[in-house]
Amino acid sequence: MDQKCETANCNKEASLQCPTCIKLGIRGSFFCSQICFKGFWKVHKAIHVLAGVEPITSGNFDVYNPWPTFRFTGKLRPFPQTPKRVVPDLIRRPDYADHPEGRSLSEESLRGTSIKVLDDDEVEAMRVAGRLGRECLDEGAKAIDVGITTDELDRLVHEAAIERDCYPSPLNYYNFPKSCCTSVNEVICHGIPDKRPLEDGDICNIDVTVYHHGFHGDLNETFFVGNVSEKHKKLVRITYESLNKAIELVRPGVKYREIGNVIQKYVAPHGFSVVRSYCGHGIHRVFHTAPNVPHYAKNSAVGVMAAGHCFTIEPMISEGLQKAESWPDDWTAVTTDGRYSAQFEQTLLVTNNGCEILTKRQENNGQPWFMDNL
Ligand code: MF3
Ligand code: CO
Ligand code: CO
Repeated sequence: MDQKCETANCNKEASLQCPTCIKLGIRGSFFCSQICFKGFWKVHKAIHVLAGVEPITSGNFDVYNPWPTFRFTGKLRPFPQTPKRVVPDLIRRPDYADHPEGRSLSEESLRGTSIKVLDDDEVEAMRVAGRLGRECLDEGAKAIDVGITTDELDRLVHEAAIERDCYPSPLNYYNFPKSCCTSVNEVICHGIPDKRPLEDGDICNIDVTVYHHGFHGDLNETFFVGNVSEKHKKLVRITYESLNKAIELVRPGVKYREIGNVIQKYVAPHGFSVVRSYCGHGIHRVFHTAPNVPHYAKNSAVGVMAAGHCFTIEPMISEGLQKAESWPDDWTAVTTDGRYSAQFEQTLLVTNNGCEILTKRQENNGQPWFMDNL
């Protein structure tokens, strides 16, 4: 054994190697004992940063901990965020894009009004927004892999939107800081893209909404990162199937409150729960409007479907308890038991005899395996 402990003035024989260095492929980095390793950590960890590699989750909190007293429900931690991305002036912006608190006054002025029936031109504009939103989501989907950061996914979605003459709807919506939501593992929804590299076994939802010629198109999918456990694959698959069951119901005359019955009936036999604090929503010239569409059974949603209505169904299904709580960033919604949650979303148009899925997949985006038949 010719390795010597790295701690200054130690020089003992050393057989322990820094686990972060092993992961990053940095050679050397031997220590004689846990005591020396811990004692020298503050100095040593700088070489991880010098290696030019993002810190891994387990080491992250030695460098970045924005909320020292907060009790996390699971293993996921926040990582630093990059600066707000810019949208070129030539792209049409929603009203909240430039409001200091990100408020949408157009959306707020519609609160309490009834469900809008879109005319033919408005329906056509929604078809375009839905298709463009789908294309942007697929750009993120194709890039999902071990090691890519959710911030990189956000950049891809942001650039895909701009290339298509779209404003990425989440950006500055009630001050949301990024262009899409990325929700990993125990995150139910509204995760903020950051510099955390995706890890083997993660599940990651990307939720994309674009604003094009005055209309929003909104969709999301949950993706597998590397080798996902069978139980988490099943959670994702059942969530996907529950959305499709609900979509089968959509036609004129059906009550919006029926959707939740179908979804809960489908997922409950597997022991999964339906998140209650976030719902589907009407969508057209504003991002979130009537109808409100709960995904749980025996809800009291108001309204009956009619041709020309546009709305989303976006069930969030959890492995354990349905209960949600927020991180101190006031956006990231996580399960209170730290168990995983999955989600899928489509924007729908009610037609005379059923519905049109405006955000339907047009081609195989390579993710996940069970949706190849779409
Ligand atoms: N796309 C989400 C939804 O399905 C809303 C995201 S709002 C944001 O309704 F501000 F977090 F982006
Ligand atoms: Co969405
Ligand atoms: Co939505």
